[in-house]
Amino acid sequence: MKALVLAGGSGTRLRPFSYSMPKQLIPIANTPVLEYVLRNILDLGVTEIGVIVGDRAAEINQALGDGSRFGARLTYIQQDAPLGLAHTVSIARDFLGDDDFVMYLGDNMLPEGIAGIAEEFAAHRPAAHVVVYKVQDPRSFGVAELGPAGEVLRLVEKPQEPRSDLALMGVYFFTAAIHEAVRAIEPSARGELEITDAIQWLVTSGADVRAGQYEGYWKDTGNVEDLLDCNRHMLDSLRPSVAGEVDDASVLAGPVVVEEGARIVRSHIEGPAIIGAGTVVEDSHIGPHTSIGRGCAVTGSRLEYSIALDGASVTGVQGLRSSVIGRSASVGTTEESTGRYRLVVGDHTRVEVAA
Ligand code: TTP
Repeated sequence: MKALVLAGGSGTRLRPFSYSMPKQLIPIANTPVLEYVLRNILDLGVTEIGVIVGDRAAEINQALGDGSRFGARLTYIQQDAPLGLAHTVSIARDFLGDDDFVMYLGDNMLPEGIAGIAEEFAAHRPAAHVVVYKVQDPRSFGVAELGPAGEVLRLVEKPQEPRSDLALMGVYFFTAAIHEAVRAIEPSARGELEITDAIQWLVTSGADVRAGQYEGYWKDTGNVEDLLDCNRHMLDSLRPSVAGEVDDASVLAGPVVVEEGARIVRSHIEGPAIIGAGTVVEDSHIGPHTSIGRGCAVTGSRLEYSIALDGASVTGVQGLRSSVIGRSASVGTTEESTGRYRLVVGDHTRVEVAA
């Protein structure tokens, strides 16, 4: 068994962050999403992992290296343009050979792991085993219609009128039968080779295609709301530890991680919360459900249910909530008179102030 991790794509829903970094390296509880992905795959005993990379290949390579740090053997496979999930299977053909493999979207978080899914696949070894999740509005997902024994009857990508509420998650198990399907399909109306079309091709040609329903926590971290929700979920199981300095005038309440070299001065950290290495928090209230990256400065501010990426600074701002602050971005106060704002805001950035 091998694995194919998809870390290319365009990440338009996660702008402006995806302008300067691959979305798969966005930190959740201060750990990049891709590291959680690799750990789940390694937990299956699978170490031969192909990583699809796009124009942000260099950063992904720098973050993961050859994989030996994790006990994995990584093979990077360059995708020149995001031409679809099935396209990634076709360019990974040589790497995959005739082995069974798990295809795992590099922005999907399944903190409870995928061992149960792997067992279901191994029990029947169908040509394709997909994983479905009940969602309220399936129109932005691939949607599956299942028969009574969990067999897949039909798959439709982003249907306007979904015939079930079962969305396809970003984890798929395949045998080598998928390669013929990928060769047989044509690009969709949006110009992508869709994995749903390839799996539908298998269904139509009479192959065994099954689905299992996932009951655990699952998020595609492709947009800000889901990123924050996932950060909250991961922080809920945070194991507290303090390697940095906390002065006598500060209070840590609930599970809090203060990484090495971080300094907490005259502040209240309300867990679950994590303060990254080398960050300085002064005269501030942080948390709950907040992750502050490395080398940040938070001064005279209040920040909850938020994520600050490495090098961010927040000065003199009370009441920040549901916020994501990018790398080396600064949020502060202005000398302008009350009721006026000064913004230097990048492309596709979102600013919301109280009405
Ligand atoms: P998506 O999130 O569906 O697509 P995207 O990355 O282009 O994002 P957006 O819709 O916001 O523009 O992709 C799911 C995962 O698969 C993600 O980790 C990126 C990866 N991917 C590839 O590696 N190659 C591709 O051709 C596509 C479409 C996605």
